[in-house]
Amino acid sequence: MARRRRIYEGKAKVLFEGPEPGTLVQYFKDDATAFNNQKHGVITGKGVLNNRISEYLMLRLAEIGIPTHFVRRLNMREQLVREVEIIPIEVVVRNVAAGSLVKRFGVPEGQILPRSLVEYYYKSDALGDPMISEEHITAFGWSTTQEIDDILALSLRVNDFLSGLFLGIGLRLVDFKLEFGRFYTEEEMRIVLADEISPDNMRLWDVKTNEKLDKDRFRQDLGGVKEAYQEVARRLGILPEG
Ligand code: C5P
Repeated sequence: MARRRRIYEGKAKVLFEGPEPGTLVQYFKDDATAFNNQKHGVITGKGVLNNRISEYLMLRLAEIGIPTHFVRRLNMREQLVREVEIIPIEVVVRNVAAGSLVKRFGVPEGQILPRSLVEYYYKSDALGDPMISEEHITAFGWSTTQEIDDILALSLRVNDFLSGLFLGIGLRLVDFKLEFGRFYTEEEMRIVLADEISPDNMRLWDVKTNEKLDKDRFRQDLGGVKEAYQEVARRLGILPEG
């Protein structure tokens, strides 16, 4: 069998050349990293769960008119996506204080934020993804004011929709990270949601018990990482067979 060309390998995913021009195959690995690569582990079956969870969430978001790179799931570990030009910015939306917000500003973990906070980080492993402002984004030419307006509006719509979706299954969407790309057609360029949406890049707490059902179980050595991801998939009604 011909080996596909590997376009990019990240910490938790690999991108291969797709079957048609303008497409890529996104492969979900079981690897987990934290603290800018200082901690590494393998969570057997995580890739399968994240592939399904991300497929489900991208499809639900597309239904409400959020443009995404997702085309279709190909198998247990792979999905077909549109090739986009990734904007080198990570957008973090927060509803409840946790993680680096707690560390940076000393607010107690679990404090409900008076309004949703949107933060931007520059995607750079070498620099440890520094937090940036809109000023940095435009000054360094990573994106334009118009694009940032679109990205912000899309991120807030994603937050509203996903917060409601997860609340409906007893989970609080504490925070999450999104990435966007430029998708070019013959006529126009559109900003689309890219990458993945899974418990690797969201914090989800059980509404009743505050139990963490996301990658913090790995980061904080809480155990039961795969079981937590399985529980999210189960509540979404998409637990993969086998
Ligand atoms: O670590 P921090 O509190 O800034 O993370 C905020 C949210 O963004 C968390 O849900 C985390 O999983 C996600 N994140 C991510 N990739 C990064 C940094 C944060 O998915 N490089």
